[in-house]
Amino acid sequence: DAFFAPISDAAPPSSTTRHIKISVVGTGNVGMAIAQTILTQDLADELALLDAKADKLRGEMLDLQHAAAFLPRTKILASTDYKVTAGSDLCIVTAGARQINGESRLNLLQRNVALFRQIIPPLVEHSPDTLLLIVSNPVDVLTYVAWKLSGFPSSRVIGSGTNLDSSRFRFLIADHLDVNAQDVQAYIVGEHGDSSVALWSSISVGGVPILSFLEKNAIAYEKETLENIHKAVVDCAYEVISLKGYTSWAIGYSAANLARSLLRDQRRIHPVSVLAKGLHGIDGEDVFLSLPALLGRGGVLGVTNVHLTEEETERLKESARTIMEVQNQLGL
Ligand code: NAI
Ligand code: 2OP
Repeated sequence: DAFFAPISDAAPPSSTTRHIKISVVGTGNVGMAIAQTILTQDLADELALLDAKADKLRGEMLDLQHAAAFLPRTKILASTDYKVTAGSDLCIVTAGARQINGESRLNLLQRNVALFRQIIPPLVEHSPDTLLLIVSNPVDVLTYVAWKLSGFPSSRVIGSGTNLDSSRFRFLIADHLDVNAQDVQAYIVGEHGDSSVALWSSISVGGVPILSFLEKNAIAYEKETLENIHKAVVDCAYEVISLKGYTSWAIGYSAANLARSLLRDQRRIHPVSVLAKGLHGIDGEDVFLSLPALLGRGGVLGVTNVHLTEEETERLKESARTIMEVQNQLGL
């Protein structure tokens, strides 16, 4: 006997029912933090995990499946074979080497480009319509590499970029003012890493622009204080790595936050790594770096025409040059 008696006039599933599939490539610290945030936030009907290490992968899959009674229903699959990722709406790539204590993100380039040559072609072959969200470092250069290797339009290839740095920035400002970080609007743009650029003129708290508030009230602020807050943003990943060996929770939430905006067509503005050629005086070569971008189901729907001061523009161009110099070593 069937467990459930059939209902005679049951309608077949509607073809308009959306089935969302997310694949996570690389199930290390970062991939698993992203996977578990996706599950708790109910962002996918199906979650496929892929890694090169079969035992670790199966262990991670089982461990997550065993939480089924406490989570929204999501089918969780795992394999070392790219077939498991077939038909994904979003593929998140986190595979690769990570920094050791004190090492810069850019130093990981050669090792991770070699991996991307193995990862991106089969991934896009099995999911030709997917959005690609790149997380592995150095994320801006690897987003460029993924764009080149995939042959996708740039609107479908996104780097997690400074969505994370901006959250760190908002946290530090919110902590200082003792308010909720969600009420702090503030952007870090440029490279996800050492040459990132803080947009001081963009900071507002509860709709009040901070710099003009200080000026209007004749409250003196030292440029050095502002520089120190930005330095704290740049340094904090190094600090976490020196303390616990890697960063994971914040990038887990950052990537899930991007997945929601993309797959649920939220049209929210996030600082993420996009093809920036021709914007803010960045010309010459193709380069991906973070700018505030409108995200929806189609990927990057546009880039905000944010006003930059002359100094911010110069710093952004310098950040672009830093990324381009590294990129030029690739010969792609
Ligand atoms: P991890 O070492 O814990 O995990 C890396 C995983 O990649 C391992 O499970 C490994 O088996 C897998 N892998 C290696 N080669 C593979 C291949 N060919 N195919 C499939 N899987 C493969 O490292 P962790 O801490 O998870 O970091 C991963 C990456 O994420 C690093 O590049 C790190 O720098 C980056 N990262 C980026 C952040 C961002 O904001 N963009 C934030 C934090 C980390
Ligand atoms: C982070 O910023 C290391 O890119 C990594 O947490």
